[in-house]
Amino acid sequence: MIDILKAQLSLELANGIQLPKEQIYQLLENPKSIEHGHLAFPVFMLAKELKKAPPLIAQELKAKFDGKISHVEQITAVGGYLNFTFDLIYLQNLLSHAVADSASGKVRLGYQKPKAERVVIDYSSPNVAKPMSIGHLRATMIGQAVRNLAESQGYQVTGLNYLGDWGVQFGKLAYAYSEWEGGKNKNYDFTQKPFEALYQLYVDFHKAAEENPELDAKGSLTFKRLEEGDKEIEKIWKMFLDISLNEYKRIYGLLNVNFDLIQGESFYNDKLESTVELINKKGLLTESDGAQVVFLDDDMPPCIIKKSDGASLYATRDIASAIHRHDGMKGDHLLYVVGVDQNLHFRQVFKVLEKMGYDWAKNCHHVAFGMYRFKDIGKMSTRKGNVIFMDDVLNKSIELAEKIIEEKNPDLSDKKLIAQQVGVGAIVFNDLSSDRIKNVDFDWDRVLDFEGDSGPYVQYCAVRCKSILRKFEGRIPVDTEVPLVSSEEKTLVKQLLLYPEILSISYKNFKPSFLAQYLLEVCKAFGSFYTHNKILDDNLDEKTKLARLRLVQCTETLLTEGLRTLGIQSPQKM
Ligand code: ARG
Repeated sequence: MIDILKAQLSLELANGIQLPKEQIYQLLENPKSIEHGHLAFPVFMLAKELKKAPPLIAQELKAKFDGKISHVEQITAVGGYLNFTFDLIYLQNLLSHAVADSASGKVRLGYQKPKAERVVIDYSSPNVAKPMSIGHLRATMIGQAVRNLAESQGYQVTGLNYLGDWGVQFGKLAYAYSEWEGGKNKNYDFTQKPFEALYQLYVDFHKAAEENPELDAKGSLTFKRLEEGDKEIEKIWKMFLDISLNEYKRIYGLLNVNFDLIQGESFYNDKLESTVELINKKGLLTESDGAQVVFLDDDMPPCIIKKSDGASLYATRDIASAIHRHDGMKGDHLLYVVGVDQNLHFRQVFKVLEKMGYDWAKNCHHVAFGMYRFKDIGKMSTRKGNVIFMDDVLNKSIELAEKIIEEKNPDLSDKKLIAQQVGVGAIVFNDLSSDRIKNVDFDWDRVLDFEGDSGPYVQYCAVRCKSILRKFEGRIPVDTEVPLVSSEEKTLVKQLLLYPEILSISYKNFKPSFLAQYLLEVCKAFGSFYTHNKILDDNLDEKTKLARLRLVQCTETLLTEGLRTLGIQSPQKM
């Protein structure tokens, strides 16, 4: 849409401006107000070469191009800018056809042509046997949104859930399970509530080990047996894995999250030795206090590859895994959606890869995010200790959404389903609408404010479009025949045309917040269109009515698509 306009315009401008069309494309701006047209070209770049003042250059270019650019109705020279106003019907139909192509399944709204390059994206990646924390909610949702954005840019995508499924804690758990008869002890209901039982076992073991440190040693010993391939322990470990995966799948279903591959840290067990060997062969390994390390630049501590007792580390696995993601999975871009607290870890891992001579290390990105800060932690039930679990936050939100819906629209059918879509959507939107790198101030009143900058607000706007469309019984043609000339209509059309560009910059920055903020702008533009322009009025001439209805349809499709890209569902009613 706007990208098509820019491409057309830059091609034609290149016929009279001594700049390559690619550069003209880059220079074209989206004016803030519709008063300044649909696209603006700043001429300042040309002043030096032409030895003229920018306003004069703008005047001359206006004279040169006036009436000569396709679909451009008016060119104005304002200061150092050339402003282009396009034919309104042309723009309405450009939008309308893109929406029609999306509806017919030809090409999704705003999507780029398929590319050969592959993005491997690591997201969610919780630690087995533990409930997902609120941090994992961020890793899951930001990851799913970035994954969807990558697809919108035409990339081949492999979404990878890199489970934390290996480490001494599994020895401890397996020890506790077999010693304390986890399967038979009534404190641990492994048949009815296996995941809760597993976590209870985890909590109890840690409590007991505080008083009796010998337990830790027993746990380590059990882990050693697991590492050495003890079948009995391995069976217990596998059971823990299955129980956890079942629980995670339930949550992923609720969140609408999907992966192409679930491959935990344990997958790399048999690839670690060869990785250490490879690092060694490249002459990077140094012994330091009995450990094997790679020295990095001055601003980073060395990366430990092998501890003095021979054990490998989180970093060792990540190095092995990155090589596999590149060579095995054919990933050209490797993304890691993980909290900012692991910043040093990823800088070290990427640096080691670079030192190993992998030039693709520059395509590894830590998509980092900040933490949640709860304004009123009292409202959250923290089950044990101070950890806030994702499940509790989601349930609370669904419960609150249900109350609001009950008050606002008690006659609604499917209240349960809608409360789920709204409650979950509210949490996700709240998360994604703030710059991921910053901490999120979590405030229930804002998260579920149907009138504020929230998920329910965007969902509600789409629902309002749907209800207008339901009231109209006739057929709405794709092509509109009259221009929509009010400033609200023009602003809304222009806003909707920006969508492909928003997807592209959101992906380039790995920031779903750009898309979320944009959707809020669309809702505001729709709000003033709806307030100031009649849509279903009987006195309205038929062509204008159809053009306005089509605009409502386009808004609805775009909002629903935008929400879907963020991983949020759109209710039919609310
Ligand atoms: N399981 C880790 C955690 O919860 C996150 C793993 C992130 N991915 C990675 N390749 N290191 O902290």
